Amino acid sequence: MRPLDRLLAEGKFFSGSVAASQMGVSRAAVSKQIARLRKEGYLIESVRGKGYLLVPRFDGLLPLEILARLRTRVLGRNPTLLDTVDSTQNFLRGLAEQGAAEGTLVVALEQRSGKGRASRCWSSPPGGLWFSLLLRPSLPIHQVSILTLMFGVAVARALMLHGIPASLKWPNDVLVRGRKICGILLEASSDPEKVEYVIAGIGLNVNFSTADLPDEVKERAVSALDILGRRLDRAELLSTILMHAEAMYEGLPSSISGILDAWRLFSCTLGAPVTISSYGRIIEGKALDVAQDGALLVETEGGVEKVYSGDVTIKSTA
Ligand code: BTN
Repeated sequence: MRPLDRLLAEGKFFSGSVAASQMGVSRAAVSKQIARLRKEGYLIESVRGKGYLLVPRFDGLLPLEILARLRTRVLGRNPTLLDTVDSTQNFLRGLAEQGAAEGTLVVALEQRSGKGRASRCWSSPPGGLWFSLLLRPSLPIHQVSILTLMFGVAVARALMLHGIPASLKWPNDVLVRGRKICGILLEASSDPEKVEYVIAGIGLNVNFSTADLPDEVKERAVSALDILGRRLDRAELLSTILMHAEAMYEGLPSSISGILDAWRLFSCTLGAPVTISSYGRIIEGKALDVAQDGALLVETEGGVEKVYSGDVTIKSTA
């Protein structure tokens, strides 16, 4: 990171002369750089005797505003903000192939062709929190699905802290009042022995009304704005999600049991009668538990089945 960016992202006052000496330039050159950053949209205070201070704006998602709010060591440490993109997943894959570091983050204000699970489209209008995160986990490929559950727990915890009671539907949905507020998409690049990288994509309906979504989506979707009736600070929400995710991620693989326990607490799937559509098969039964590899254990008429992927419908018992 450039010295001026680092000073601003620290979120403390620093003097023009400190910046000048770290940058190896004159104080006039520092004030020119500050003027350029203000033009980009940053709010930078300058106080006589104290120096400069970056003040993250409410809901401000510019890279230095994200950095100023982060409470993580690795996740999110290298942010890019795009006004619009086809999909943050595709954009980040390009960076991953060029060797980008673990934790690299791509956020978009809107996506033109956001990707959902099973090649579905993901509506990504302005106001949502659409991001992808690069991970280089030292997990065997058969345990990578744990990361979906881990991010589900991180999102549910972050939403709870912002006053939104969330539950988790296996494998990748975060629900509020039975409607989907967030989806998680994991895309991995691996060979039979090793996972090279994982791109974790998270789409969270935040500051828009789901009444504005296409008809086929809006019945099943909900947003934070629908629930709270006010806008949330997406940068703060992002930082909270990453903080919770990192606490679990750092402890892998020994944190797996803890992740599963936390997931069980938020689950609206376990104990429920379910119908699962998995690779063209329909499986009916009662969701019993999640296994150590993230699979769902379902009690069917023929015995307990281990389901690795699929769309779950929770049958109403009423
Ligand atoms: C799903 O529930 O089907 C998963 C949805 C994942 C959407 C997010 S938005 C950010 C990232 N970029 C994409 O194109 N998709 C994921």
